[in-house]
Amino acid sequence: TIAFLNGEYMPLDEAKISPMDRGFLFGDGIYEVIPTYAGHPVGFTGHTSRMAQGLEAIAITNPYTASQWHEILSNLVEKNASFIDSGNIGIYFHVSRGTDSKRFHAYPKDIPPTVFGFAFEIAPPQPLAKADVKPFKVALQQDKRWQRCHIKSTSLLGNVMHFQAGVDAGVNETILFNNEGMITEASSCNVFMVKDGSITTPPLNHELLPGITRAIAIEAFKQAGLIVTEAWFSKEALLEADEVWLTSSSKEVAPVIEVDGKAIGTGEVGDVWEQAIKAYHAYKFN
Ligand code: PDD
Repeated sequence: TIAFLNGEYMPLDEAKISPMDRGFLFGDGIYEVIPTYAGHPVGFTGHTSRMAQGLEAIAITNPYTASQWHEILSNLVEKNASFIDSGNIGIYFHVSRGTDSKRFHAYPKDIPPTVFGFAFEIAPPQPLAKADVKPFKVALQQDKRWQRCHIKSTSLLGNVMHFQAGVDAGVNETILFNNEGMITEASSCNVFMVKDGSITTPPLNHELLPGITRAIAIEAFKQAGLIVTEAWFSKEALLEADEVWLTSSSKEVAPVIEVDGKAIGTGEVGDVWEQAIKAYHAYKFN
């Protein structure tokens, strides 16, 4: 596949950076994953504005305008179309603070950022019928990450360790709760739950990423007349929910049938999920 590195396109295995890059040494950078289907990005404006905010939060000058990011995205999709037949292409963008001559914690002045992008195959859009969807099973853990989870940092060790705990438990993801026992998000997704027909997702704060899929889903659900609230709910409430869903750029809205070994609702994909994924697609592809 073809990658983008510092203004140039090249085969991915020819893209090289210095081990003195602060992204490598410190995880000092910001990233995004933008899904595209048949060449159309989903949530492009949301993704680029979240990246701009993340870069601002860590004092890296955004190397590109939104329209320049769009051009790079389009070029990556086009150059990789022959490698990824399905046309379901995720675009990864990564801006690190750049390469320094020494390893010193303070932000160095006036070094150019390292800008990297590559394309990879993502799952096709979710099916619209619950009989056809592959449901998730998840673990449940106390959130041990840092207190700036709203920043989409490339320092993902905390997330990786939570995700791996799920893998080690034989499931697909790990949902996290804070010190008060309230659900925040999952290690690589946002979380929604359904009780008595109404949909709830945690409100935004420093404990979770403001997911672009989450934002699109909330809009889509409202437009379809579904009841959706942003409010904290406990891990006990999660286990007693009728339905649980995960959202992310690669998963869209994905149903969860088991949390921490316990069946959610009937233990099968719920009816509200079917309404939700239809609403999401109607909105997303409009
Ligand atoms: N993960 N929360 C976390 C911790 C995430 O890493 C992600 C995305 C999300 C969902 O955000 P969005 O809807 O904008 O994709 C929530 C990406 C896809 C990843 O790291 O691969």
